[in-house]
Amino acid sequence: MDTLKDKKTKLRITDLSKNYDGKCALEHVSFDVFQGEFLSILGPSGCGKTTLLRILIGLLEASSGTVALNGKDITNAPPAERSMGIVFQNYALFENMTVLGNVEYALKIRKETRATARQKAKEMLALLGMSEYENKKPGDLSGGQQQRVAIARTLVLHPEIILFDEPMSALDVDTRITLRREIKSLQAQFDTTMIYITHDQEEAFAMADRIMIMNNAHLVQIDTPDAIVEHPADDYVRRFVLENLQAKADSIRRFVRG
Ligand SMILES: Nc1ncnc2c1ncn2[C@@H]1O[C@H](COP(=O)(O)OP(=O)(O)OP(=O)(O)O)[C@@H](O)[C@H]1O
Ligand SMILES: [Mg+2]
Repeated sequence: MDTLKDKKTKLRITDLSKNYDGKCALEHVSFDVFQGEFLSILGPSGCGKTTLLRILIGLLEASSGTVALNGKDITNAPPAERSMGIVFQNYALFENMTVLGNVEYALKIRKETRATARQKAKEMLALLGMSEYENKKPGDLSGGQQQRVAIARTLVLHPEIILFDEPMSALDVDTRITLRREIKSLQAQFDTTMIYITHDQEEAFAMADRIMIMNNAHLVQIDTPDAIVEHPADDYVRRFVLENLQAKADSIRRFVRG
């Protein structure tokens, strides 16, 4: 993407906190997301990533703080009024419906005519290389294919923002790398803002315009990959993010050299 400072603010998260029965899962988290940005959220298990995403899309209520979309407060807006879509790790497809049925479903709820819904669903499946599987059930597909259907189902509604919650963690390395490229190219094509949770350092650095690093319910650092490498905010970022990344790079280098 072009220089970030020229970009319009899409989402503004201000002082967001969440307690579950007294246990703090998010503490005073504030950040902006820019129009068309790819923001990765990176952090260890239990640090509050999914909690944050569920609050953004409106599936969970924050204990305090606000969320604004295009300058409008949506903290208490229902999910359907947020123009956001979500892609989960486990695909969450309807097992008893065909691939085409899964993608058409959301359009039908929006009261599109049967014919337009079908046509739009078919076009989106074609874009994701899934046309030949239209009449199959999710159970007959590989994990990567199921995730393509889940992405098609989300994209067909043209949301302004797509949230991904570890969408690749059940997939093998080759599929991950192919899907990464496809997601980035779909993002450019539709100018969709994307927020992408991962606990894979390499995936975050490979895909993101900016990375937000979380630890223990806090936002530790949000910046471009280069700036994080050059100026890690603290020891946590240095050790758990950069050293892990370095270890991976070293092992790849050893592998390539033989
Ligand atoms: N419904 C809930 N009730 C009580 N505590 C919860 C609930 N959901 C999450 N938590 C707790 O809140 C904290 C943050 O959980 P969250 O699911 O947001 O983490 P995460 O960063 O997405 O982790 P992972 O990488 O394992 O998915 C954890 O300590 C978790 O146990
Ligand atoms: Mg999670």
